[in-house]
Amino acid sequence: MADDDVVIDPWGSAQSTDYDRIISQFGLSSMESVTLDNPSRLHRRGIVFAHRDLNQVVDAQRRGDGFGVLTGLMPSGQMHMGHSMVIDQVKWFQQQGGDVTIAVADLESQATRGVSLEKGREIALQQYIANYAALGLDVEKTNVYFQSSRPIVQRLGFQLGKRTNLNEFEAIYGFGGETNLAHVQAPMVQVGDILHPQTEDYGGLRPIVVPVGVDQDPHLRLTRGLASKTNWFNVNEGKNSGVTITLSVHDENASVLGQLPNGRMDKQKLNEVFSGIVRCMSELGYSDIQSNPKQGTVNVASATKRDQSMIRMKLLAYERSLGGLGLLAPSSTYHHFAVGMTGEKMSSSKPKTTLFLNDDLATVEKKIKRAFSGGQSTIEEHRRLGGNPDIDVAYQYMMYFFEEDDAYLAELNSGYRSGQILAGEMKQLCIDRAVDWLGQLHEMRDQTAHLVEQFLAEDAR
Ligand code: TRP
Repeated sequence: MADDDVVIDPWGSAQSTDYDRIISQFGLSSMESVTLDNPSRLHRRGIVFAHRDLNQVVDAQRRGDGFGVLTGLMPSGQMHMGHSMVIDQVKWFQQQGGDVTIAVADLESQATRGVSLEKGREIALQQYIANYAALGLDVEKTNVYFQSSRPIVQRLGFQLGKRTNLNEFEAIYGFGGETNLAHVQAPMVQVGDILHPQTEDYGGLRPIVVPVGVDQDPHLRLTRGLASKTNWFNVNEGKNSGVTITLSVHDENASVLGQLPNGRMDKQKLNEVFSGIVRCMSELGYSDIQSNPKQGTVNVASATKRDQSMIRMKLLAYERSLGGLGLLAPSSTYHHFAVGMTGEKMSSSKPKTTLFLNDDLATVEKKIKRAFSGGQSTIEEHRRLGGNPDIDVAYQYMMYFFEEDDAYLAELNSGYRSGQILAGEMKQLCIDRAVDWLGQLHEMRDQTAHLVEQFLAEDAR
């Protein structure tokens, strides 16, 4: 690791905001590589800044095929504005047709934060789900479950453990000999969280998108790698043209794919598998399919790069019919972190740094009044030099959370920069909006309190 590399630690308190470097170092794709039909406020403002394989989800949505959304909550502390950003995105995906699964990470919270399962349940319902309901998640299309009471999540985590090792955990998370094993187990359970919605009992094969803060990306790298390693068929760009499919033979599939214990191939079995692949491709409408079992390849000359995800899905279904897991690597999106109210990092353990969704309105007003300002130290100077909205917390909170209207926001931005709007005025504008927004949320919470139980999946009741 080079000295100036960014380190992402999902359990740490340090948070890098060098987003360009994060994109290049971890191989994320910039949002500029995706065109969304109805971008949300967070997309339009560049707050959702990066993704992995989001086109897989967008394409499925446009084809009218289903897709799922999965996110998880750590039941500890109180829900704050930062957490609400994920729910904004979940809600948006839900409006685009996605079905939503929410993991309560009660096992993780117990193991890494010492919160009992009972307490975790209480916090999840009262702090988080109650607010999700008030924020407008659709109770008909949302399923909340607990890690501790969904066996397949734990089983998948255990099973996939076979395909990673401590070296990989060292590379991804920086673990060493002194690392507590809870920090090895928790990511494996999270792998189960992320992958299980694709299994037959939980919605079946479809793209799953995981909207998260960039601190969670290590878990996505792990999950995506593990899913790919179990796949029976590789789909890649063809050497000369099109898309090429090859077999990935391992312990679990060797006999089905025709590899005999002595290493030789059972030609008949192999040919059957290859005609299965060809059948899949012609079902997708391709006609120029070159199958070469001897070389172990099938080439589809007219398939484009963009077709790869559809081809992959088809082959995963085929893999399942042959007895494989057929797991598709999940997609993900990443958002910028809102700055803490004091200018430092937003953190549940430092109440002054953030607005909690439960804060009463007087507290909200007080916190914004004291928030870090991007204004000058005197009014004269401010009028002359202008303020800096990029670091002004009141402005930032309008942009991230409270102001829907892009044009009005642009006016505030230029008015502040030019010195027309004073720091105190910006704070007052933010207070008005915040009080409105949170006041409404509190009202909604009363009105939707009866829905909380209905968000729970059967195994969570
Ligand atoms: N580890 C996450 C956190 O610290 C919680 C979580 C568990 C999660 N499972 C997940 C997040 C699946 C996203 C997807 O907040």
